[in-house]
Amino acid sequence: MSSQPSHAISVEEVSQRPRLALASLPTPFESAPRLARHLGLETLHIKREDMAGYALGGNKLRQLDFILAEALQDGADMLIATAGSQSNFCRSLAGAAAKIGLGCHLHLRAKMGTEHVGNLLLDGIFGAKKSFTSQTDPWDPAIRAELDDIAAAYRGEGRKPFIVQLTGTSASTGVVGWMAGAAELVKDFTRLDRQPDAIMVVSGSGLTAAGLALGFKRLNCKTRVIGVSAQQPEARLREWIIATANEAAGALGIPERLAADDFDIIDGHVGPGYGIPSEESIAAVELAGRLEGLVLDPVYTGKGMAALIAQAGRKVLNGKSSVVFLHSGGTPGLFTHSAAFAHRAAR
Ligand SMILES: Cc1ncc(COP(=O)(O)O)c(C=O)c1O
Repeated sequence: MSSQPSHAISVEEVSQRPRLALASLPTPFESAPRLARHLGLETLHIKREDMAGYALGGNKLRQLDFILAEALQDGADMLIATAGSQSNFCRSLAGAAAKIGLGCHLHLRAKMGTEHVGNLLLDGIFGAKKSFTSQTDPWDPAIRAELDDIAAAYRGEGRKPFIVQLTGTSASTGVVGWMAGAAELVKDFTRLDRQPDAIMVVSGSGLTAAGLALGFKRLNCKTRVIGVSAQQPEARLREWIIATANEAAGALGIPERLAADDFDIIDGHVGPGYGIPSEESIAAVELAGRLEGLVLDPVYTGKGMAALIAQAGRKVLNGKSSVVFLHSGGTPGLFTHSAAFAHRAAR
């Protein structure tokens, strides 16, 4: 089809970097006709990153394939990482570390609670050692200083730690992981009779959206990336996405650069705050469950779905009627929020 992008560039050519093959790829690309009809969309497809494989899946597994290859090349015998206490990323990393026989230390922001449930429960099951920090901003240099101190202590014991920081040194490799994901999606799109108008992806660090937007640009795919912030204000997230995408492009030696008008960011669905369910995200989780049997969570994918529900036929989608929703995982988090569903279940 002439409207389809060129496939001359393969996943491997997008990134010559070494990668492991821990994730189960390609992930399914499924039609969601009942939800599409409900939202008045012509088509809706779900990219099922929740089915990316080990440790209950999610959008971080593709990134870890590249990041952990770097750690092994570096001779690491253990990984150190940081994020919020209910981090899906840290849980995925702990699962990957277990799978390849590396140690794992997670330094977690305690603000979202330290109860042994959801992802924290899984971190323990995967054998990760945990410590907590009172820092609240993942980009704060103080967090990096704390990670460096932890690494120094392990080095003192003769270990070889490798720090994985998505808001720092690992960011551009995280972008590469999702450029490879963009190439996989472009292949998925060849099964459709046209390129989808838009893909919606819920964004925290923004690396998934950055890799998709840069990858689509590289592959000449016109599907518009719409990032739905679960955490940061629009301007900060946009700036970070552009900076990390362009750092990755430089590292890969490709000529494309991401500009502000290459993608959209919506920040109106954070609700009461990062990691806290909103009424609309709870309703979105229920709608996707009831119409498609999908399992979303109320602090990431539920907020993304709430944005899709709110935008269908409105400003940002603006006539875009064939949409892809990236199901980025987050399943364990759902079970830490059962109380937020209780009053609705009684109806
Ligand atoms: C389930 C889920 N979806 C989406 C995201 C956001 O991905 P990114 O940090 O690449 O923006 C995260 C981040 O932690 C997540 O856990």
